[in-house]
Amino acid sequence: MFNSSSKIIDGIQHSKNLLHRVKTLASVSEDFNKRKPCIAVILVGENSASEIYVKNKIKTANNIGIKSIKISYPSSVLENDLLSQIKKLNDQNEVDGILVQLPLPNHISEEKIVLSIDPSKDVDGFHPINFGNLFLGNYTMLPCTPLGCLHLLKKELGSLSGLNAVIVGRSNIVGKPMQSLLLKENCTTIITHSKTINLSEFTLKADILISAIGKPKFIKKNHIKPGSVVIDVGINRIKLDNKNKIVGDVDFEDVIEKVKSITPVPGGVGPMTIACLMYNTVKASYLRNNNKFKEVIFDE
Ligand code: GUN
Repeated sequence: MFNSSSKIIDGIQHSKNLLHRVKTLASVSEDFNKRKPCIAVILVGENSASEIYVKNKIKTANNIGIKSIKISYPSSVLENDLLSQIKKLNDQNEVDGILVQLPLPNHISEEKIVLSIDPSKDVDGFHPINFGNLFLGNYTMLPCTPLGCLHLLKKELGSLSGLNAVIVGRSNIVGKPMQSLLLKENCTTIITHSKTINLSEFTLKADILISAIGKPKFIKKNHIKPGSVVIDVGINRIKLDNKNKIVGDVDFEDVIEKVKSITPVPGGVGPMTIACLMYNTVKASYLRNNNKFKEVIFDE
């Protein structure tokens, strides 16, 4: 029987290792600043997936010595009220990070909300200033999911220099920032997307394949270069045999024999996103207080 376990990139274990380091950094920050690093999380409405994500973020923060403030609003909240709340948090010195859980109700402009967050507290890395800095190769606050993917890739492969990286999906949250990070690691990068013609022509060249397209089990073995490393960012909720299930963008069972290694869903990229959010919060607490910060997350 074929044993796939040695090929699985264990995101839960990698996130625990990273959180262990972040906990130490948080404790040093507390010694320096005489207070814990602090993240404020804003949740709007009753989206059950968002509620679970926020709960996990708060629980993880509290476990590793980061103070958290949760602010909940009904979906009817006015955009101006949200903007006033963010301004208040921007002005509070003891708040290091601000995260507004997305998506927001249709009557609120996500763009306006993200733009209102002080870039030095933008632990999501979504503010145009942080996004622009990333594209210029000046790292400030980096988006958590691409950062988590890069961390896993470096742990798996060491140097990424010269490798072909193909990204499926061109979102602002994953695809585009992922390409920037991989370019800086000296990968040759290609972004493909839902309108790409003959996708496998590109993916078959990928030493590293990252899928963030949001289509359940979309990537099959005919897309895979033998011996490649596959990072599955997809979190797709489907009904299978009358049960709710979460599956990735990659058909795990179909590709497993062909790949060198692969992240599972769940238990791959998801836990890394939260660990990187904690990392960004502690990083913000260092930088806002003019303490020197070493980017341990890029260690191989
Ligand atoms: N919704 C889904 N993923 C994210 C994320 O990484 N950050 C925020 N703020 N909202 C999200």
